[in-house]
Amino acid sequence: MPSSPTSELVLIFDFGSQYAQLIARRVRELNVFCQIVRHELSASRVAELKPKGIILSGSPYSVYETGAPKLDPAILNLGIPVLGLCYGMQLGCQILGAEVAGSTRREFGRAPIRVIDPDIILAGVPRETIVWMSHGDQVKATSSDFEVLAVTDTCPVAAVKHKSKPFYGLQFHPEVSHTPEGGRMLRNFLHDVCGCEGLWKIHTFIDRAIADIREKVGDKRVICGLSGGVDSSVVAALLLKAIGPQVACIFVDNGLLREGEADSVRHTFRDWFKAELHMADASTRFLDALKGVTDPQEKRKLIGFHFIEVFKEEAKSIPGAKYLAQGTLYPDVIESGGAKDGPAATIKMHHNVGGLPAELGFDLIEPLRDLFKDEVRKLGTELGLPDAVVWRHPFPGPGLSVRCLGEVTREKLEVLRQADVIFLEELLASDWYRKTAQAFAVLLPVQSVGVMGDGRTYENVVALRAVQTDDYMTADWSRLPQDLLATVSTRIINEVRGVNRVVYDISSKPPATIEWE
Ligand code: XMP
Repeated sequence: MPSSPTSELVLIFDFGSQYAQLIARRVRELNVFCQIVRHELSASRVAELKPKGIILSGSPYSVYETGAPKLDPAILNLGIPVLGLCYGMQLGCQILGAEVAGSTRREFGRAPIRVIDPDIILAGVPRETIVWMSHGDQVKATSSDFEVLAVTDTCPVAAVKHKSKPFYGLQFHPEVSHTPEGGRMLRNFLHDVCGCEGLWKIHTFIDRAIADIREKVGDKRVICGLSGGVDSSVVAALLLKAIGPQVACIFVDNGLLREGEADSVRHTFRDWFKAELHMADASTRFLDALKGVTDPQEKRKLIGFHFIEVFKEEAKSIPGAKYLAQGTLYPDVIESGGAKDGPAATIKMHHNVGGLPAELGFDLIEPLRDLFKDEVRKLGTELGLPDAVVWRHPFPGPGLSVRCLGEVTREKLEVLRQADVIFLEELLASDWYRKTAQAFAVLLPVQSVGVMGDGRTYENVVALRAVQTDDYMTADWSRLPQDLLATVSTRIINEVRGVNRVVYDISSKPPATIEWE
């Protein structure tokens, strides 16, 4: 159930749009707290929540299709400002008496609109501007209760408002970057129609989160599992600020980490934050378990199993611990909340290695569950975490085991680590690290022929992978500069013994995945 950490809450009704999360992020960027809710939420519940505004998302459905998601019509009588986007506009207009029909032409992509009446929502928008359209149906005719605010050549009602109710509709998507004036339109709605002041700021979040943690935990101890990644590091930093010595951090070294990873965690948390840090060196246990195993899913299962065992053993050395802190983020909450049962949920489960089961018997603390990733990064910076942690690329739970194709051995891991660190160093030095979402080296299970000096070699091949993505569900390969790739390749072949060939992965996801296993 939604609850707001500020006095300003905006609800986003999700009708199954691929853009629902993007709308939420745009609203948050305007410093307004918002939550995505299922479209069935009743008017009475909405009235209890007292949102300052409501946004209705788009949908893959047509309003006339059987099974099309509905809205409780009474919501439009609550006096709360509502902005309908695409399907949301059609649905709102239909409820309020306008005629919606299929168009002879589907409109998809960039379209120029002409503003007829700037009113509040289009205030400051140029008379002609470009918007991103993606629709089949459209509002064909409005009654005298409506005022048309903008049109396109093929769409007679591209933006509309109701004359007596606080309902606005945009046939296009202001949330996507292809609508250059979209941010202004959303700001107009939030600030000038809904009267939001923009109270959602990261430092106010910190004060509230600290108070909540102190109240919930009292004088009990909290265990925080650290992975080295940004989410768990930010949870730890927040807890340490809130309850300092009551926190015990556990870091499991599974022997599958990148070069320098364990040292960096030790330095940040033990030396800098002065945290109680339990480093469980379990590399031998993990590498022994992986001996002879080549199947990727088997590797994942084994690693997941041993991780839980090691974590349990380590947790026993922290007597009296009642809580376990986890870095659950808002997108995880939405996905597991059933708003989207689909490929997203399936893929997450498959990746959920490193998750800790409820049988451990701790109560959970999830202080980041209202935040998006970009907000977590801001929070990390505010809490004093170094840039290298705040901007670290995600790293999979099974670590280098899924980047060392086939059987994992200490020797292969060593080769992979050396190649990987060279790639990362060069990405950082060229400022490309921040421009890629994830980048790493993969050690292939093949050998290839080469020449070095006068001799013939028969050695390993390393593949480089770098991708751009926002959500990791789809990804495109990064167009890294050729000179950068050349430097990385030369350095790896010269500096890493056992590698005589470097290749660059130019596959997008789908159909490839980001990882190779
Ligand atoms: P793929 O390879 O499926 O990966 O395109 C998408 C994202 O998930 C990460 N990944 C994992 N994370 N345990 C994890 O915690 C896993 O087993 C796992 N497999 C992939 C991958 O690094 C990428 O960010």
